Amino acid sequence: MENYEVHEFDVLVIGAGGAGLSAAIEASGMGVSVGLVCKSLLGKAHTVMAEGGIAAALANVDPKDGWKTHFRDTMIGGKMLNNWRMAQLHAQEAPDRVKQLEHWGAVFDRTKDGKILQRAFGGHTYKRLCHVGDRTGLEMIRTLQDKGIHQGIAIFMECAITKLFKDGDRISGAFGYFREDGRYVLFKAKAVILATGGIGKAYPITSNSWEYTADGHGLAYDAGADLIDMEFIQFHPTGMVWPPGVRGLLVTEGVRGEGGILRNNKGERFMYKYLPEATKNDYAADDKESEEWVNAAVSGAQTTARRPPELSTRDNVARAIYNEVKNGNGSPHGGVFLDISYLPADRVKKKLPSMYHQFKELADVDITAGPMEVGPTMHYTMGGVRVDADTQESRVPGLFAAGEVSGGMHGSNRLGGNSLSDLLVFGKRAGTGAANYVKGINTKPDIPKEAIESAIKEMEEPFSRADGINPYDVQKKLHTIMSTYVGIYRDEKDLETGIAKLEELKSQISKVGIKGSKAFNPGWHLCRDLRNMFIASEAVARSALLRKESRGAHSRTDYPNTEPEFGKYNTSVFDKGGVMTLEQTPIPEMPADLKELFEKKEPAHA
Ligand code: FUM
Repeated sequence: MENYEVHEFDVLVIGAGGAGLSAAIEASGMGVSVGLVCKSLLGKAHTVMAEGGIAAALANVDPKDGWKTHFRDTMIGGKMLNNWRMAQLHAQEAPDRVKQLEHWGAVFDRTKDGKILQRAFGGHTYKRLCHVGDRTGLEMIRTLQDKGIHQGIAIFMECAITKLFKDGDRISGAFGYFREDGRYVLFKAKAVILATGGIGKAYPITSNSWEYTADGHGLAYDAGADLIDMEFIQFHPTGMVWPPGVRGLLVTEGVRGEGGILRNNKGERFMYKYLPEATKNDYAADDKESEEWVNAAVSGAQTTARRPPELSTRDNVARAIYNEVKNGNGSPHGGVFLDISYLPADRVKKKLPSMYHQFKELADVDITAGPMEVGPTMHYTMGGVRVDADTQESRVPGLFAAGEVSGGMHGSNRLGGNSLSDLLVFGKRAGTGAANYVKGINTKPDIPKEAIESAIKEMEEPFSRADGINPYDVQKKLHTIMSTYVGIYRDEKDLETGIAKLEELKSQISKVGIKGSKAFNPGWHLCRDLRNMFIASEAVARSALLRKESRGAHSRTDYPNTEPEFGKYNTSVFDKGGVMTLEQTPIPEMPADLKELFEKKEPAHA
């Protein structure tokens, strides 16, 4: 009798957020057997924290919008480092994915004539974000979960995967445990789709949920996949800064999309002075023009007024807030003020119901009556597993990745709203890719007993060191290193110090110990999570050191310019004989018809 459960599927999907559910629905719809593993309860994926909307060029509000403009905005936002093919597929397919979601039961906010309503977000030329108030991610997960359950997908809740297995070069399964009672589980599978999200818990201030411990990044790296663009960490400009228990919690960009104004402690609307010269003409020149834009948004009228400066791209707004605080212009709790209270209270409550409740309940602030205090929070990992744009397969046969755990789509900086559409577009593509792949594999996955025993031994080890190092102490030190040396601004000295400190701290992972039983024991879970967070953190720091320029979310004070030479490469990170190895890999040439879109001054209407 084995001391672990065994399940067998054609495709195992790890992660039940937007990407994982989309992948599972698609693969099972193609007639292959699918198992879906989620680390938390079904319906409680981090996707539910995505508030502002899904970016898709439906052109319901701004009729001039189209996929070409969305593609161009995405590439410009990513400072041209994006995998152009992914950005193209994303812009072309997002509208159909939104319509499919609606067909499956998602209830979007509506225009007066009954179409899906779209709102403005930073870096998007047009009002493009399809939304459900400020609870879009929640509605998306509710819809996908409903569809997935009715499709008969086998779901394993509160289950964490600790290892991927290979048969020769190919993926053959995964090993993990159930968090509630610690029992082990083996999944035999011909293909695995990683949909595990990001790495936010490697940073102390983050909008990410507890699940975001770099699981997929670590699993893929260990299995021989390469990670790209890891130097690009997005700091969302507006997280809560107070009270301390909720520091970092997301304050949706939807607040600024609906007209929210950023001011410093002198009352100055500082964003005007931070607009980069190259994009200055896309934004309102003064308060009068900004006001005209907001009035048009409120009434639903068309306007020639340009959008307010608060809708600059996230990297730019986050740096602006950071500098205002650093220069002594911050709010009492170390942020700046975000104000939407000048709009009618019922409109604010209707458009931003979660924000209203969040501030009322958590900070005793009424956002219809006064400003919020906000500051940058680690929000998104642009880097991740390198995948083929069309199939989402990594360089490991049978290993696929979709959503935040994959890299390439967003280049050096993601536009808000492009994450939910990414999950839908590439979740579905990963499902198709994996289903097609397994249909070509005729052998059953083989996993040697010794490999399983070694995976169990690894999990048991922290219990043999009851007086070992406390895993929470290690995570706290990791937080200090990442926020001090690998934060919004970086330079060579800091990055080298950070890497040296990470090296030193890494040796403590094998010494962490835990007491108690395996039944819901978060300290034990952390012992394993630390390894993945360290892989990701080291990849971020080393990639950041290699990129001697500033681009998108990567700001080097010692190399403040964007260097054309660095625009030709992605940074790849992979394991070579136990050593983290880095390479600059050339970015494939963009075809002429897409290149043309960047030569025109006017938006590229489709
Ligand atoms: O600000 C937001 O609502 C976040 C959206 C996103 O990251 O796409």
